Amino acid sequence: MLIRYKKSFKKIAMGLLSFMPREKELRTLKETMDCYESNDDRQLFLWKVDEDVVGVIGVAVHDTKVEILHIAVNPSFRDEGIGTEMMAAVTKLFSDRDVGPNESTTRFFEKCTKESR
Ligand SMILES: CC(C)(COP(=O)(O)OP(=O)(O)OC[C@H]1O[C@@H](n2cnc3c(N)ncnc32)[C@H](O)[C@@H]1OP(=O)(O)O)[C@@H](O)C(=O)NCCC(=O)NCCS
Repeated sequence: MLIRYKKSFKKIAMGLLSFMPREKELRTLKETMDCYESNDDRQLFLWKVDEDVVGVIGVAVHDTKVEILHIAVNPSFRDEGIGTEMMAAVTKLFSDRDVGPNESTTRFFEKCTKESR
C-alpha cells in the first residue's frame, strides 16, 4: 500500500533512499531528504506490507508532468513485484499528468513499462 511520507518515517525513508547509487554519501542523502521535506513540488511515498515499510518512491511534480526521482526497495523484499507495484501506484495517482523517469530511474521505469505493454 502506498502511503505519503511523514516525519516519523524519516530514518526508514533515508535508509531506503540510501540504496540509490547516487545517495550513498550521507551529505547527499541529507540534502535529498531536506529537499523532499521543504519543497511542495517534491513528494515522497512509502510502500507498506502489513506493518513493514519496505519501499520508497519520490517524485517531482511539475505542471503537466511528474518525474520519478528515486525508487528503492529493501533488499529482503526485492523480486516480489513491489518496485513494479510502486511505479504503477504512482502512475495511477498522477494519472492527470505525464509520469516519467529521470536519469536515475530510467532503467527500472523502462523495464516496468515494457512489461505492462
Ligand atoms: C530497482 C528496484 C526498486 C526494483 O525493486 P523490486 O521490488 O525488486 O522490483 P520488482 O520485483 O517489481 O522487479 C524485479 C525485476 O526488476 C529487475 N531490476 C532490478 N533492478 C533493476 C534496474 N536498476 N533496472 C532494470 N531492471 C531492474 C530485476 O532484475 C527483476 O527482473 P526480472 O523480473 O526479469 O527477474 C530495486 O532493485 C532497488 O531498490 N534497487 C536499488 C535502488 C536503485 O538502483 N534504484 C534505481 C533503479 S533504476
